[in-house]
Amino acid sequence: MSAATKVLDTVLDRAVVPGYTKIGYQVRSKFWPADPAPDALDGKTAVITGANSGLGKAAVTALAKLGATVHLVVRNVTKGEQARAEVLAAVPNAHLEVAECDVSNLASVRAFAEAFTERHGGLDVLIHNAGSLPPARAETDEGNEVTLATHVLGPFLLTGLLRPALAEAHGRVIFVTSGGMYAARLHSEDPQYRHGAYKGGQAYARTKRMQVVLTEQWAQRLTDDGVAVHSTHPGWADTPGVTASLPGFNKIMGPLLRSPEQGADTIVWLAAAPEPGHSTGGFWHDRRIRPTHYLPWQHDDPQARKELWDLCVRETGLVI
Ligand SMILES: NC(=O)c1ccc[n+]([C@@H]2O[C@H](COP(=O)([O-])OP(=O)(O)OC[C@H]3O[C@@H](n4cnc5c(N)ncnc54)[C@H](OP(=O)(O)O)[C@@H]3O)[C@@H](O)[C@H]2O)c1
Repeated sequence: MSAATKVLDTVLDRAVVPGYTKIGYQVRSKFWPADPAPDALDGKTAVITGANSGLGKAAVTALAKLGATVHLVVRNVTKGEQARAEVLAAVPNAHLEVAECDVSNLASVRAFAEAFTERHGGLDVLIHNAGSLPPARAETDEGNEVTLATHVLGPFLLTGLLRPALAEAHGRVIFVTSGGMYAARLHSEDPQYRHGAYKGGQAYARTKRMQVVLTEQWAQRLTDDGVAVHSTHPGWADTPGVTASLPGFNKIMGPLLRSPEQGADTIVWLAAAPEPGHSTGGFWHDRRIRPTHYLPWQHDDPQARKELWDLCVRETGLVI
C-alpha cells in the first residue's frame, strides 16, 4: 500500500461513517491486499457459528467457493438446513455439514466439540460469528447473561475444546467482533450485568470488547501450537440481525450499508489468505490491522484483562 492510500485508508477509518459503510469497502477494495487463491481452502475444514444468517451465511458461501468443507454451526437445525440449501444452490459442489449448537449454552458447546473431535481430525478454521443484541437482560438456562454467554463464554470454551484439532492443522481462529466495542472499556466488574439498568447496546459493546481482548490472550497461548488468532469487525452490513436489533439505524443507513458479502469479506480473507497466517492477535477491518483503542486512557487495565481470563476459566470449567 502506498503512503497516499495508507492515509486515505486511515482517514476512512477515523471518520467512521464512510469507512464502515459500503463506501469504505468500495474505496479500499481498489488497493487492499490480494484475494486468496481460488483453491486456497481445498481440502481444509472450517467451523463457523451463526452460519444460517447474515454475515455467517455469506462467509459459508465464500469459504465453500474456496474449496473448504464447512460445518454450519446453528442453534436451529431447520434454519441451518435452509441455509445449506441456499449455499448449495450457489455453490453446487460445496461440502457442507449442519451441526446443532447453542453457543450460549456451555453444555451444548461441549456436546458439539465432543462430536466434532470424535468424527474429524484437524480443524483449519474456527470462526466465532454468532452474535445477538437482546433488548432486555436475559439469562441462559445455565444462569449466564446472554451476550456474555454468546460472545465470550461459549467461544472461549469452544476454542479451548477444539484446541487439539486446531493445533493438529496449525489452524486459524477468527472472532467476529464489532466496531461498537470502541464505545466500551474492558469491564471486569459485574460481567453478568446483574446491577444497574440493563442497556442492550452497552452489554453488546462490552462483550465485543472482551472478544478483542480474548483474541489477544488466545493468540499468546496458542502461538506454540502454531495457531493464529484474529478478530475482525465487519463495518455496517445489511443483515437480518441489524434489521431486527437496530431498525432505526437500518432505516437511516440502509442505502449505505454493506451487503452481507461485503461485510464478510475480511472474515473470509483472514481464513484463507496467506498474510494472516504469518501474524497473530490482530484486530482487523477491511484486510488491515486497526487500533483497538483510539484514546490512551481507554487502554485495558492489566488486572481487568487477568480477571476476564479468570472469569472465562471459572465459568466454563475449561481445563487449560
Ligand atoms: N451486520 C453488521 O453490521 C455487524 C456489525 C458489527 C458486528 N456484527 C457481528 O457479526 C456477527 C453476525 O451478525 P449478523 O449481522 O450477520 O447478524 P444475524 O443475521 O442476526 O446473524 C447472527 C447469527 O448468530 C446466530 N446466533 C445468535 N445467538 C446464537 C447462539 N446462542 N447460538 C448459535 N447461534 C446463535 C443467529 O442464529 P438465529 O438465526 O437462530 O437467531 C444467526 O445465525 C455477529 O457477531 C455480530 O455481532 C455485525
